[in-house]
Amino acid sequence: MVDAVGGAVSDVEVDWELLRGKAVEAAQSAYCPYSGLQVGSAALCDDGRIVVGCNVENAAYGVGLCAECTMAGQLRLTGGGRFVAVACRSGLGELLMPCGRCRQILYELGGASCLVDTPSGVLPMSRVLPDAFGPEDLP
Ligand code: THU
Repeated sequence: MVDAVGGAVSDVEVDWELLRGKAVEAAQSAYCPYSGLQVGSAALCDDGRIVVGCNVENAAYGVGLCAECTMAGQLRLTGGGRFVAVACRSGLGELLMPCGRCRQILYELGGASCLVDTPSGVLPMSRVLPDAFGPEDLP
C-alpha cells in the first residue's frame, strides 16, 4: 500500500482506540513534578507489537525527557523495528501533538509514512514534519 504522498504504508492494521488507550495508560507513569502534565505515547510497531513511553522531567528543566523519547528507547530495548502509528495523550486523555524535537525522533524511527494521531485526523509524518531532514540527507 502507498499513502497519499507516496510513502509506503505498512499493512499492519491500526487499532487507534487501543493505541490511544495505551497512551493514556502510559501517561499515568509520568514523572512530571514541574509541569504537572502527564504525557503518554504509544506506537504500533511494524511487527505488530505496541511500545509506550511517558515523560520524565528533571530539576534541571531542560534535560527532561518527553514521552516519545522514552518510547524510542522502548522500541530499541524490546526488539527494534519501526514505528507504524503513534498516539500521544495526556493523563486525562487529551490528544497532544509531539513537540518539534519529538517529531524528528519519530521520523528517524518511523519515516515519512508513519501515521500520527492529530487534531486534524490521522496524518502521515510527511504532513506532521514536512520536508524533514533525515538519514537520507547524510552523505
Ligand atoms: N512533553 C512530552 O512528553 N512530549 C511532547 O511531545 C511535548 C511535551 C512533555 C515534556 C514536559 O515533561 C511536559 O510535556 C510539559 O512540557
